[in-house]
Amino acid sequence: MTAETQKILILDFGSQTTQLIARRIREQKVYSEIHPYTMPLDKLKVLRPQGIILSGSPASVYDDDAPECDPGLFELGVPVLGICYGAQLMTRQLGGRVASAEKREFGKAELTIQKSEGIFSGLRAAPAGHQVWMSHGDRIEEPAPGFVISATSAHSPAAALQHTEKPFFAVQFHPEVAHTVIGTDLLKNFVFGVCGCKPSWTVQSFIESTVAAIRAQVGEAKVLCALSGGVDSSVTAALVHRAIGSQLTCIHVNNGLMRSGESDAVIRFFRSQNTVQLVDIDATDFFLGRLKGVTSPEEKRKIIGHGFIEIFEREAKKLEAVRFLAQGTLYPDVIESVTFRGKAPIKSHHNVGGLPERMNLQLIEPLRELFKDEVRLLGLELGLPKEAVFRQPFPGPGLGIRIMGEITAERLEVLRQADAIVLAEMKASGWYDRVWQSFAVLLPIRTVGVMGDGRTYENVVALRAVDSKDAMTADWSQLPYELLGRISNRIINEVRGVNRVVYDISSKPPATIEWE
Ligand code: XMP
Repeated sequence: MTAETQKILILDFGSQTTQLIARRIREQKVYSEIHPYTMPLDKLKVLRPQGIILSGSPASVYDDDAPECDPGLFELGVPVLGICYGAQLMTRQLGGRVASAEKREFGKAELTIQKSEGIFSGLRAAPAGHQVWMSHGDRIEEPAPGFVISATSAHSPAAALQHTEKPFFAVQFHPEVAHTVIGTDLLKNFVFGVCGCKPSWTVQSFIESTVAAIRAQVGEAKVLCALSGGVDSSVTAALVHRAIGSQLTCIHVNNGLMRSGESDAVIRFFRSQNTVQLVDIDATDFFLGRLKGVTSPEEKRKIIGHGFIEIFEREAKKLEAVRFLAQGTLYPDVIESVTFRGKAPIKSHHNVGGLPERMNLQLIEPLRELFKDEVRLLGLELGLPKEAVFRQPFPGPGLGIRIMGEITAERLEVLRQADAIVLAEMKASGWYDRVWQSFAVLLPIRTVGVMGDGRTYENVVALRAVDSKDAMTADWSQLPYELLGRISNRIINEVRGVNRVVYDISSKPPATIEWE
């Protein structure tokens, strides 16, 4: 990202919807960045934002340790939009009054616009009001000096405020959520009208600036990239390759726990790009050997994780003059998540844990500003095959944590076949893209069945399909009975060693997505 990039800075006070604010603004082709509210003013100034948004928060401005931003923020001459808690904080810090409302306001409310200017420019007062989404206990009782009320709702006489001279705006509702029908128009007004941004942050501009940045960072040095076959590592490799061509070497380690054909398409793609150097290691025997007799889920994960590092390191050492490791870390992994009690833990996320330090490599993380769907768009733009770009997430330990108990070559083969049927049917019915993940799990519990005239005593396959936004929570997908029936029939008829199929109807929490 070049220093000239226009950006909107979002200060996070811990709201559940802070990421959504960033998304909505990026959808307008304007770059936005989330930082914790504790960000010091001098650091904030260095970013030279075109506008600042103060997010909502589960806190109350009356809490003893209520999160506050540096009031110097209002002296920068930069437009500020306060949302919900951000609006209340702004009011309080600038001399207005916030009080506990008699009635808390949650859910939909009708907004009456008083002034069709500023963030409401072009939005007229609708006869029945505009539907907005509220979620607050406190409310603004008295605007800060210089502010006037620009919209009202039944329970919020000051549902929106604006300063008469300065570019300061405050809204009690959440413009970033879909239920606020005028939300996008409002954010567009703020970003374009008030802050003067141009819609210039596009996938193409991102590729151009990132390619230039990678070239500048790397110079003549060599770069390594661990290519798992997943979206993030594939897009990272494609992007770095666009920047430095043959200076990039990708290493794909097949741990023998992949889905049927899972990584083949990606490998084929990279092989078809003439200048990509791809080291393709089949370490199936190595991993299955180490996993022999192991049944504990945690132990499996450790063995697989350590095994990967061992093989990767061994292969990487054979290459000369490697100084960088490219890694597909995404934005949600690097945002400092704010807890409203004031602590701001940083999630550290290393896909190839510990390797950079051990091998004395510097990291290149070209996707660290992007959300998953932005990465997918980027992948398409870089020419990756659609199947690779829209692949469902797949865990690093692979099928190893989808076989309960010991992992054996035979069990892997049974699971691969069942899983391939699940995927084929999910894709054929159009459900593959509608769920977060869908897969088969092999339960080495044998149950009695009857096939033809004979008794069978075989394994159980569990189907798992979940809806989720970020894998933190998930619900089981309500797949049509007919689809479930077809998958079950096919697995029982086509996969030797399975005579019963069940559907997992547990949500996360309390269950998890994977079974181990
Ligand atoms: P759980 O099972 O914890 O999974 O609900 C949440 C998401 O993470 C994936 N997952 C993993 N991904 N290494 C990974 O790269 C792992 O060890 C791992 N374990 C779970 C899982 O598929 C789901 O998308």
